[in-house]
Amino acid sequence: MNNQSNPIFISGCVLFLLLFLHAPSSITAQETEDEREFDYDERSKKGPPRWGELKKEWEACNSGEMQSPIDMSNDKVEIISKSGALTRNYKPSNATLKNRGHDISLKWVGDAGSIQINGTDYMLRQCHWHSPSEHHINGQRYALELHMVHESPDLNVKNKIAVVGLLYKIGEADVFLSKLSRNISSLKNSLEESNVGEIDPTDIKMGGRSYYKYMGSLTVPPCTEGVLWIINEEYAESNARPLQALNGREVYLYRPRLRPRVTKN
Ligand SMILES: *[C@@H]1O[C@H](CO)[C@@H](O)[C@H](O)[C@H]1NC(C)=O
Ligand SMILES: *[C@@H]1O[C@H](CO)[C@@H](O)[C@H](O)[C@H]1NC(C)=O
Ligand SMILES: *[C@@H]1O[C@H](CO)[C@@H](O)[C@H](O)[C@H]1NC(C)=O
Repeated sequence: MNNQSNPIFISGCVLFLLLFLHAPSSITAQETEDEREFDYDERSKKGPPRWGELKKEWEACNSGEMQSPIDMSNDKVEIISKSGALTRNYKPSNATLKNRGHDISLKWVGDAGSIQINGTDYMLRQCHWHSPSEHHINGQRYALELHMVHESPDLNVKNKIAVVGLLYKIGEADVFLSKLSRNISSLKNSLEESNVGEIDPTDIKMGGRSYYKYMGSLTVPPCTEGVLWIINEEYAESNARPLQALNGREVYLYRPRLRPRVTKN
């Protein structure tokens, strides 16, 4: 598993990076489906500084004050020495891979389980990748960022979308990515969707129990706010959107103190 010189793993990883080199993300029902409607070139007419002018519904991209991504610097975050009550209840479910031209997403067809954040259940819907990372940690950008998009079915929940982010360094051995890269290499046509069978979300290796949490937005138009972001602190190394202003928002780092394990009975 940790054999970083494994050639299959390395080619898988390089393949991923190539495929995601220009990959914006987009997937929840609320995200814009047609990615040609905007781009990531700062100087283009459809680039990030102009997203909010392109459509009335995209206004938040320019006028929003809780936009994502952000840089999470330790001198700006509030460190909370306890676990932030995060419980993963994922299960294997059939999934499809979709090549969206310059973005590849993995969508679970059935019930892939959920994550519980501070008492609220969010169902896992899909995941996709950005390369390089969109969020920064202590000013540093990483090679790859995975977004696992969750939605709460509960009508009383104010923040419907929770995205769990994971940052990768180049060369990090990752079983999940290398498994999927074989399927991705067989995805030829743009917009093609292919069944990849059962994918177990618990195969996505999460780094420890420390994570950043803040309220932000979708990182693609319509840049909708009210998205709960959970970014793992570990595994922390540009089709990505430029960083957005914090505007006084609080960002918490949940980092439980190490203590002796207490065994019941
Ligand atoms: C996935 O699909 C296969 C074939 O349709 C089916 O037999 C299997 O039960 C499905 N798995 C889950 C977890 O739904
Ligand atoms: C967790 O939920 C409780 C009750 O719903 C709320 O008062 C509290 O602020 C929440 N904590 C965080 C960190 O979001
Ligand atoms: C995807 O990968 C799985 C396991 O590696 C394989 O069984 C399946 O046939 C692949 N599907 C496609 C469409 O390549």
